[in-house]
Amino acid sequence: MPDISTLVQTDAVAREFAHTLKHGDVIYLIGEMGAGKTTFTQSLARELGVTDYVNSPTFTLINEYPLESFTLIHMDLYRIHVAGELIEMGLESVVNDRSITLIEWADLFAEVIPPSTITLKFDLKGHDERTLTIIRH
Ligand SMILES: Nc1ncnc2c1ncn2[C@@H]1O[C@H](COP(=O)(O)OP(=O)(O)OP(=O)(O)O)[C@@H](O)[C@H]1O
Ligand SMILES: [Mg+2]
Repeated sequence: MPDISTLVQTDAVAREFAHTLKHGDVIYLIGEMGAGKTTFTQSLARELGVTDYVNSPTFTLINEYPLESFTLIHMDLYRIHVAGELIEMGLESVVNDRSITLIEWADLFAEVIPPSTITLKFDLKGHDERTLTIIRH
């Protein structure tokens, strides 16, 4: 289980993980508030070639970063109140084989979003001990 307690460790794990990704992947990011889902996404986005600053999509719900051969999609479902909001977004056309999608709090609405190919489980122990579990489906 990789240790991601520091940003240096997070960058290293993100770099290795980035190499395993393929277009069409849908990655659920699961873990309590502050566990490190957005921070890991920022490292991963940089590894994948995003040069823009990666904001938390807490309020925008979805941020898209077009890259040369695919679009990186970053979502956060925490503030979605009803499944209908997600159904209206028509995610099936956004999430496709020319995208790699990261969804924070995906467990809240797993029944109405595209199925995951990978789940990342973030655990925070104490103040500053963080681990990541990578589950491939
Ligand atoms: N890997 C890490 N190494 C060091 N500090 C971290 C790490 N991950 C997160 N942090 C610290 O914890 C704070 C919260 O992290 P982050 O915003 O990534 O959590 P989150 O899981 O996305 O939370 P939320 O559920 O609210 O979206 C960061 O601002 C940073 O200070
Ligand atoms: Mg977050």
